[in-house]
Amino acid sequence: LASNYIGNIFRVTTWGESHGKAIGAVIDGCPAGLALCEDDINKEMQLRKAASFPFTTPRKEPDVVEILSGVYEGMTTGAPISLIIYNSDVRSESYSPIQQILRPGHANYCYQTKYASFDHRGGGRASGRETACRVAAAAVAKKLLAHHGIILSSFILELGGIRCKEQAPLQDFQSSVGQLPCPDPAAQLLMKERLQKAQEEGDSLGAIIECRGYNIPKGLGDPTYHKLGAELSHALMSIPACKGIEIGDGFSLARMQGSLANDLYCLDENGDVTCSSNRAGGILAGISNGMPLVVRVAIKPTSSVKKPQASITIDKKETVLQLPEDSRHDPCIGIRAVAVVEAMVAIVVCDALLAQRLSRL
Ligand SMILES: Cc1cc2nc3c(=O)[nH]c(=O)nc-3n(C[C@H](O)[C@H](O)[C@H](O)COP(=O)(O)O)c2cc1C
Repeated sequence: LASNYIGNIFRVTTWGESHGKAIGAVIDGCPAGLALCEDDINKEMQLRKAASFPFTTPRKEPDVVEILSGVYEGMTTGAPISLIIYNSDVRSESYSPIQQILRPGHANYCYQTKYASFDHRGGGRASGRETACRVAAAAVAKKLLAHHGIILSSFILELGGIRCKEQAPLQDFQSSVGQLPCPDPAAQLLMKERLQKAQEEGDSLGAIIECRGYNIPKGLGDPTYHKLGAELSHALMSIPACKGIEIGDGFSLARMQGSLANDLYCLDENGDVTCSSNRAGGILAGISNGMPLVVRVAIKPTSSVKKPQASITIDKKETVLQLPEDSRHDPCIGIRAVAVVEAMVAIVVCDALLAQRLSRL
């Protein structure tokens, strides 16, 4: 399986399977001199952990990250940073009864067609488990961003068709642990009811996640094939179960007139150029314009549902897929994917920030 990396200068390669011994990431291109310890990374891991949120998979992995290289006496050295996370809560036998059945909405048919083999145990490399490596690596990116005063904030904008009214992002994502990561308490109640109902029906729900970036310097992103929006789209669409991305007002811009869609220039209190609105979501001509970055990601409902689903076997016989009682899945991937969306944005912005150093004398 080629293509396990993202980023040009700040480059993250991930490895490992859902039910293998361990998973991990290697980061190349992190500058030397950044203060970094395992706690910095493990704090971020909480934001993706099933144990941190309601309505998540019963598979409870401790997700403790060890730094194997690239850090000496609490500082990055400029050498590759290697991170390892051991898998512990693995029950591969749950997948044996469905090994020969094509799973609707999941990866096994396409992997089987492409490679003539598939690690069926928990979905192997196609599992959402791989995204733990992304969050671990992005913890390093986030430390670099914080060094430059850049802050990211992400939340569930919509879940099961229920949309947040109050769209101020969460000030402190950590404080949402134990709740749904959603800033609108009324919407959150309705979301929980809908999740409860879906779970009782053996079904699953989708979600829309919003990520915002503050204090992103003007000038990040390349003007043609590596536009900031293009890099974000690539990174975000690489998240398993992601089916759509919107930057700024995205699809609704297509329904507006130009005079209303344009963000008008004005001067801020310091006499600097700014915009009176932010429909472009902080990116113009592929380059950050100093306004907050706003991206939204559509996450499909979990394909693994307890409800029986018609399917066929690998040797082409009609059958019904009934997941084993003890198989474990997220009823809504969108809850834990909030941390993954923020991770991918962090990696892209960090990469663009480092690339920006090459753009002028
Ligand atoms: C954090 C996270 C957790 C996931 N958990 C599950 C899960 O429990 N069950 C499942 O069927 N898919 C889960 N997925 C999604 C599958 O990995 C994904 O749907 C599958 O690989 C097919 O790829 P596609 O949906 O991108 O086409 C998860 C994804 C993420 C990001």
